[in-house]
Amino acid sequence: MFQRVPVLTIDGPSGSGKGTLSRSLAMHFGWHFLDSGALYRVLALYALQQHCRYDDVRRLVELARSLPVIFLDEQVILNEVDVSLTIRTEDCGSAASTVAVIPEVRKALLDRQREFAKLPGLVADGRDMGTIVFPNAFFKVYLDASAHERAKRRYLQLKRAGYNVNLHDLEADIMQRDERDKTRAVAPLRPATDAMIVDTTDKSIDDVFAIISSEAQRRLSKF
Ligand code: DC
Repeated sequence: MFQRVPVLTIDGPSGSGKGTLSRSLAMHFGWHFLDSGALYRVLALYALQQHCRYDDVRRLVELARSLPVIFLDEQVILNEVDVSLTIRTEDCGSAASTVAVIPEVRKALLDRQREFAKLPGLVADGRDMGTIVFPNAFFKVYLDASAHERAKRRYLQLKRAGYNVNLHDLEADIMQRDERDKTRAVAPLRPATDAMIVDTTDKSIDDVFAIISSEAQRRLSKF
């Protein structure tokens, strides 16, 4: 018998806490997890490896359709190579944001993202999960935080991972990326009209998790 798949979408700008929250929620409910940003990051990296320019739309679409990527728990494998750390650099994030502007590229990645929606459920993390990819999600969340707070979080995250970074440059980069993500013509970063908006600037991860998980549970009982 056909069973509907519950999809919980978490959208928002980088550094809003989406990644940590989405993973924790997926673990908590025992659901699948889609890190859509990683998909755009992997595509940008793959294009670089294949010497494909970011303005060569036809080729980028081909690469997006044939992207040899596998997601294994926390690991991202591209062409049998673990690129989990490589795709997390600011350069790769910025390149991802550049390819993500192209409507044909976004379209080419749509089905791939929708395939993640399998029972018992899915937590999908991104920018347009609730607006475009999973418009019928049972619960849509939009996380936000000030650019300064997000830069600070990113700074600590990258420092811990051993990268030499500068807070001021990070904040400038985040603001530039926000602007590009919010003003692009296709699937701009914005909350779905039926999303619950949570500002995480002054909240701990635990506080945000408690708010979202209990609301998800409440809605699930009616799903
Ligand atoms: O979430 P992230 O920082 O890993 O995403 C990297 C870039 O990918 C981000 O700047 C914009 C793009 N992206 C997107 O356009 N749509 C998504 N659903 C996820 C990411």
